[in-house]
Amino acid sequence: MSLINRQIHLVSRPQGEATVDNFQLVELPVPALESLAEGQVVVRHHFLSLDPYMRGRMNDSRSYADPQPLHAVMLGGTVGEVLHSKHPKFAPGDAVLGMGGWQEYSVVDANQRGALHKLDTTHIPMSAYLGAVGMPGVTAWYGLVKIIAPKAGETVVVSAASGAVGGVVGQLAKVRGCRVVGIAGGADKCRYVVDELGFDACVDYKAHTDPKSLYQALKAVTPQGVDGYFENVGGAILDAVMLRMNAFSRMAMCGMIAGYDGQPTPMSNPALILINRMKVEGFIVSEHPEVWADATQELGTLVATGRLKFKESVAQGIATAPEAFLGLLKGKNFGKQLVKLI
Ligand SMILES: NC(=O)c1ccc[n+]([C@@H]2O[C@H](COP(=O)([O-])OP(=O)(O)OC[C@H]3O[C@@H](n4cnc5c(N)ncnc54)[C@H](OP(=O)(O)O)[C@@H]3O)[C@@H](O)[C@H]2O)c1
Repeated sequence: MSLINRQIHLVSRPQGEATVDNFQLVELPVPALESLAEGQVVVRHHFLSLDPYMRGRMNDSRSYADPQPLHAVMLGGTVGEVLHSKHPKFAPGDAVLGMGGWQEYSVVDANQRGALHKLDTTHIPMSAYLGAVGMPGVTAWYGLVKIIAPKAGETVVVSAASGAVGGVVGQLAKVRGCRVVGIAGGADKCRYVVDELGFDACVDYKAHTDPKSLYQALKAVTPQGVDGYFENVGGAILDAVMLRMNAFSRMAMCGMIAGYDGQPTPMSNPALILINRMKVEGFIVSEHPEVWADATQELGTLVATGRLKFKESVAQGIATAPEAFLGLLKGKNFGKQLVKLI
């Protein structure tokens, strides 16, 4: 009897907020070894990564990435094990990272450069290759090291601080001797950021719903102003941090999640970029493969030695992926959002 591969397809584009009706569960047989072409590998996914960028790809609009095609498997990063292989470099049981998408199994042409990476899971759990030692970790590393380039003693602020990217940004900045302040939604997330991740302070933006109050809370924990800001959110949070930026400060523009599931969020006072002679640089991590080796070397060493901590929100089973993804866009996740598939 052949194995069944359950997949999630995008079947319609959101009008405003995304909903579970934009997705559909589809079942197909998993190809047997005999039916594979030379170079093909079947991967059984253990974890699927859910990431904010996926929301942008659901729209049919101009962006840095092509739209997700309709009636096709949602694209996404996966880790798992080789089930069948017709490629000499991959054997059944090998742990691998790929872009297998929202499904339980994928057929990969392993001859395609970068399609499948073997993983060493001796000291690093497989799931971390989708988080702290994977794309989100390298994103944190690039924005902090290459754009903010902080010096010891400087103050670095990061929004979505308890998340996959934000948590790593703060810990890497602490390693570099900075004062680190997080911004996160809720007392639990703030406590975690300070007590577990070692940030110096954290502002709960949900406890400060008017701009003045948010600014005052941020001012209290950034007495020397802000030298580096790692932006993940946009909107009211960006406006508040802008008022604390120092002369010649740097901002890594990584994400603007507050505007992904609806209207883009305007910036209230862009003149501050000029007044403070700021450097503001947007970046897309996939366009910087040149840093991958250096970044994963540092991230992998820190994780393997317990000096870089991370948290995961794990949904169980492929059918839960749409709901878990919509939750991520509303801050229901606490740490890296994954779907466990076995
Ligand atoms: N440029 C790149 O190459 C690149 C690569 C990866 C990720 N990113 C960006 O990095 C950011 C963080 O990604 P991640 O994977 O680490 O996700 P994450 O932080 O693990 O999860 C998203 C978090 O964003 C916050 N959030 C969600 N909706 C919000 C809203 N409306 N207003 C304020 N905060 C909201 C929530 O935290 P709170 O509960 O604390 O609000 C939520 O937990 C995203 O903007 C993403 O697009 C960019």
